[in-house]
Amino acid sequence: MSGYILSIDQGTTSSRAVLFNTQGRVHALAQKEFSQHFPNDGWVEHNPDDLWDTVLYTCRHVLSENSVSASDLIAIGITNQRETTIVWDRETGRPVYNAIVWQDRRTSGYCQSLKDQGYEDLISVRTGLLIDPYFSATKIRWILDEVPGVRARAERGELVFGTVDSYLLWHLTDGKEHRTDATNASRTLLFNIHTQEWDPDLLELFSIPASMLPEVMDCAADFGVSCKGLLGEEVPILGMAGDQQAALFGQTCFKEGMAKSTYGTGCFLMLNTGDKALVSKNRLLTTVAYRLNGKPTYALEGSIFIAGATIQWLRDGLQLIKGASDAELLAQQTPLDHGVYMVPAFTGLGAPYWDPNARGAIFGLTRDTGIKEIVTAGLQAVCYQTKDLQKAMESDGVRPITLRVDGGMAVNDWVLTFLADILGANVDRPEIIETTALGVAYLAGLKAGVFESLEALQAMWRCDKRFEPVMSKSTRDDFYAGWQDAVRRVQN
Ligand code: G3P
Repeated sequence: MSGYILSIDQGTTSSRAVLFNTQGRVHALAQKEFSQHFPNDGWVEHNPDDLWDTVLYTCRHVLSENSVSASDLIAIGITNQRETTIVWDRETGRPVYNAIVWQDRRTSGYCQSLKDQGYEDLISVRTGLLIDPYFSATKIRWILDEVPGVRARAERGELVFGTVDSYLLWHLTDGKEHRTDATNASRTLLFNIHTQEWDPDLLELFSIPASMLPEVMDCAADFGVSCKGLLGEEVPILGMAGDQQAALFGQTCFKEGMAKSTYGTGCFLMLNTGDKALVSKNRLLTTVAYRLNGKPTYALEGSIFIAGATIQWLRDGLQLIKGASDAELLAQQTPLDHGVYMVPAFTGLGAPYWDPNARGAIFGLTRDTGIKEIVTAGLQAVCYQTKDLQKAMESDGVRPITLRVDGGMAVNDWVLTFLADILGANVDRPEIIETTALGVAYLAGLKAGVFESLEALQAMWRCDKRFEPVMSKSTRDDFYAGWQDAVRRVQN
């Protein structure tokens, strides 16, 4: 079969459109950043128009710049920042409020009251998640209750809810399809991951009308057809998955015990647990890794809210560096034992601490401390946070048999070297680090018949470089003890 698969990757800071050929290689890529809005302490919003506009722009751009026409496209796949919540009008498509981003902490008080009322067990048994502002349900409830007139409209059936995947699908199909996939549904706090259905008790608990919810599909399925007017031809949309699940799929972690860690805005370590929805005793999440032919495969996930965003903050907030490559250069010039620790808890702490009220801090400053040490501490924080997740997984009795890394920060050799050292484990970087887009191209390609099977996909995975640990155990333990001390100090 010849032609291309177009992957739409709508992330937290940018939208990308990636063309893959039928061998699963990147043919071309377009990317566009959009504005972040921080209207209050701990609040993070996106303008939904920006999400759609940048997606459409990058799709059109990647086609026109590479002389590919829509008739060359076999299928479209959609992957996205997860949990981010949009409520819009069923008829017009107009959102009633900005998208409330996964990092947003505005519902932490309500989450605390749910915990105080003892709802934690019910919620975690049904959804595999914890009570935290991270997930969609409390954000939907906030929009329904705080935006004037919205609850009444929702109750009249005029409004719908979707994560970003649904919102994009709705626009791609000109309002014809209101659907999502099982991975995105599993991040809402409303989806029973065992029955694979929206949970009526949880809908009642959060006071969310069932009529607002999208239909939940497999990850490789007929989601609809893009309107002719958008790209020039109708194109079937055949794949969908939340971005972290898509990365797991793109890394072909199909066997139990295989794990990946993606370094985007945040960092998400996911370990395939097969057909078992393993329950963590260490505050990790149980989530749907992918669902094919109605059969869910589960994963254990550790979610860190700030990884690459630290670099963005060093660049845009503090203006200490001009770009990501400066950070690598500065770190290379800095001795590892510089004594500075940065805890980038800008939007609270995720796994395994789950403290929405924690805020960032830098410790260990002396008269000698300069830009180099602060930037290096920012990079090291990403590795220490991954170590926190590794330890939590080990205490749950699962040890990743291999850690495959990807995402923007995975190009940084210094980070991966320190990561392997601090984990005391091998870290494998694949040839294609666009694994999020690749994963959803694989899903769409499986449905279209471009790829035959999971085994065929697995055979296509290639290691670019393996990073092996060389640090002594005692040095590793000392460094990590310093980090644990720093984290303790920012917690409430
Ligand atoms: O759960 C949030 C996650 O999906 C965001 O991913 O790549 O935008 O940091 P990313």
